[in-house]
Order: sequence, then C-alpha cells, then structure tokens
Amino acid sequence: MGRIIIFTGKGGVGKTSTAAAHAVKAAKAGKKTLIVSTDMAHNLSDIFMREVREDPIEIMENLDCLEIDSNYEMNRHYEHISAAFKNMMAFKSEEDSETFEDIVVFPGIEELFSLLRIKEVYDTGAYDLIIVDCAPTGETLSLLKFPELFSWYMEKLFPIGKVAMKVLRPISKSVFKLDMPDSKAMNDIEKLYVKLGELQGLLKDRDICSIRLVTIPEKMVVEETKRNYMYMNLYNFNVDGLYINRIIPDDIDNKFFDRWKLIQGNYLNELEAAFYNIPTYKIKWYEVDINGIEGLDRIVEDSLRDENIFEVNKKVESETFEKTDTGYRLKVYVPFTNKQDFDLLESGTDIIIKIGNFKRNIPIPNVIRKYSVRSAKFEAEALCIDFVIKE
Ligand SMILES: Nc1ncnc2c1ncn2[C@@H]1O[C@H](COP(=O)(O)OP(=O)(O)OP(=O)(O)O)[C@@H](O)[C@H]1O
Ligand SMILES: [Mg+2]
Repeated sequence: MGRIIIFTGKGGVGKTSTAAAHAVKAAKAGKKTLIVSTDMAHNLSDIFMREVREDPIEIMENLDCLEIDSNYEMNRHYEHISAAFKNMMAFKSEEDSETFEDIVVFPGIEELFSLLRIKEVYDTGAYDLIIVDCAPTGETLSLLKFPELFSWYMEKLFPIGKVAMKVLRPISKSVFKLDMPDSKAMNDIEKLYVKLGELQGLLKDRDICSIRLVTIPEKMVVEETKRNYMYMNLYNFNVDGLYINRIIPDDIDNKFFDRWKLIQGNYLNELEAAFYNIPTYKIKWYEVDINGIEGLDRIVEDSLRDENIFEVNKKVESETFEKTDTGYRLKVYVPFTNKQDFDLLESGTDIIIKIGNFKRNIPIPNVIRKYSVRSAKFEAEALCIDFVIKE
C-alpha cells in the first residue's frame, strides 16, 4: 500500500525544502517516490533546477517530480462542470446574497482538482510514497476541507442519485435563483461527487495519509501553526510530524543574533510543550539558501536521520464515538481551544461544530440517530458530546 505525506505551513517557512529533502531521502533508501506540488508558483523546478511539467519527470533514481496545474486538471476531466461552476459563482444578488454565499462559496475550488490528480496517481500504484508540497496554509486548509464540505454542499444542492434534474430545476431556481447546470454538467457533477467521496476516504485514511506541519520559531508563525493543527484535528486529519525550521545554530557568535537566539529559544520551548504528542524535527538555519540534491542532503544528514520518518506516527485519534452507560460519546480532539470558542448545532443527520470561520459537519452514525445531544463539555483538549436516547 502506498503512502502519502502532505507538507503544509505558512508562506516561506520551508515547506518545499523540507518536502524535497524527504523525497531525496526516500529515493536514496530505495522507495519509488513522487514529489508533487499543488502550488502554482513552480518551486520544485527551482529547487531541483529542472523544468517540471504536468507529467512526472525523473529527477534521480527512484524520484519523480510533478507540478500540477489545477486549471489543466479541471478542464481535462470536467470541462462541462467548470463552465457550470463559473456561471454559478458569478451569480450573486443583493437580496439573497447571504443565503447564497452560505451555500456556494468555494474560493480556490481549482485546488480540489490537484488533489484529485494526486488520487489518480496514487491509484496507479506506481509509487511507494507520494510527497505533497502545498501552497501556504490558508489554501491548504481549504484544500483539505474541500472534499468534505463540497460533498455536503452537493448533496444539499443537487439531487445526487435521488431526483431527476427536471424536478430540481424549477425548485432550485426559485429558492436560490441560480441557473442549474445542464445535463452534461450534471453528469460531471455526479462523477466528481463520487470521486470526492473516494478522495476524502483516502486523505483521512490514517494508514495511508499523514499531514506534516512546517514552522519557524517566531510568534506569528507559532500561533498560526497551532491554529492549523487545531483545524486539522477538527477535520480529522492525521497530523503526525512537526518541523521547526531556521533555527539559529548555537555556535553563531554575533551580537545581532543574541536576542534572536533568546526569542527562538522561547518559541522552541513553547512548540515543544504544545506539540508534545507528535514527533518533532529541528532544522538549522543554513548559511546559504537550499538548492539541488546536495543542499537537500544537508537537511537529511543534519535533521532527518530518523529511520521511521516515513512511517505513520499515529499517536492521537482525533475523532471517536464511544459507547457510554447512558448512550454514546463523540470525542473530537481540538487542542489549543476553549469551550467558549465553539458553537454546537444539531441538524437531523449531522453534528455541526463551528469555531471561528470554520464549520465542520460530522455525520451522525445510524445507530445514534435515535439519540440526541444531552450535553457537551471540554475534557483533556477534546470536545466531548454526550448523546442520550430521545424521549
Ligand atoms: N533552514 C534553511 N536555511 C537556509 N535557507 C532556507 C532554510 N529553509 C528554507 N530556506 C530558503 O528559504 C526560502 C523559502 O523556502 P521554501 O521555498 O522551502 O519555503 P516554502 O514554505 O515552500 O515557501 P512558499 O510558501 O513560498 O511555498 C528558499 O529560498 C529556501 O532555500
Ligand atoms: Mg513552497
């Protein structure tokens, strides 16, 4: 079974360098490896000093490289859908903008198509390991929550596998005042819906897919890394590695860096305390920027010697349903939050957890449909929601 490791983090912290160093290490260890970038800025071409394209090219023995162009992917498989979405998204009127916004807001929807391409490559079984170098955090988060959100919206908006298009057309037009996609686009939508379900399954499969966070020991980045980790857990992804980059080496003896060393020291402590339950790797700040296989080898030699680095270091289950004496308990691990940060809603089929601008719908398993939420509390960094039988 192949493995997928996704590197994410704020802009410029060293995602591409860290991801590429892993790729080089894996290839040298004899794993058939692909490194793929979903970032439209072509950083892999720069770091490997080769022109990388939409189809994999060989960088060295056992290592291929691919830069995905999401627009190309979208048009390749879903030309009808792309036109339909453009129409739908272009639409927005004053009076019902809120309802509509709530239903169809897909900034960066193209990114989804990059993930679908990754799944396609995964399914060929050609690689032991696929390393994904992402665009900066915000986009990655939406990238990862998309498959879930999107399937949910599609179920609400389109009669997927249920009612014929003819029936929906007049209803949707009056309710949402939007032009429904034509039947060709509808076929594409059905196809996309099925693929998204499979993609979600793949990305959340804890035996296959890991998310690794890259950060640097500075205030703003540390804050964002913690938030990122919390949301990843909220969406039930397996985060099993933290890389702290650009650490000033101890032997630097220069007045300018004295204060910086203290500052970095504080944030290193904070990161280590906060991420106590996932493996952490430290990467020093080199005297030059990182280029080519030799540059990447330095990172591997200095920081990535761990032989188990490609394994799934699964330590935390972020979402569980447990049987209790009175019913069931849903536990969602959401570190670095407080109870007052949450809004909890119950719909017929889902539990909806809102934190800031993020909303997660957790489908209630069939066995629990007869139960309703009695209480929710915060315990050991987890939101615990207790269900009891409906009266
Ligand atoms: N530890 C380091 N020492 C020296 N230079 C580094 C180090 N880590 C990264 N760099 C350099 O910093 C720059 C940014 O690194 P990189 O491209 O890996 O970051 P990124 O997180 O992928 O950025 P982006 O968000 O733009 O994709 C590059 O020029 C890289 O060579
Ligand atoms: Mg990058």
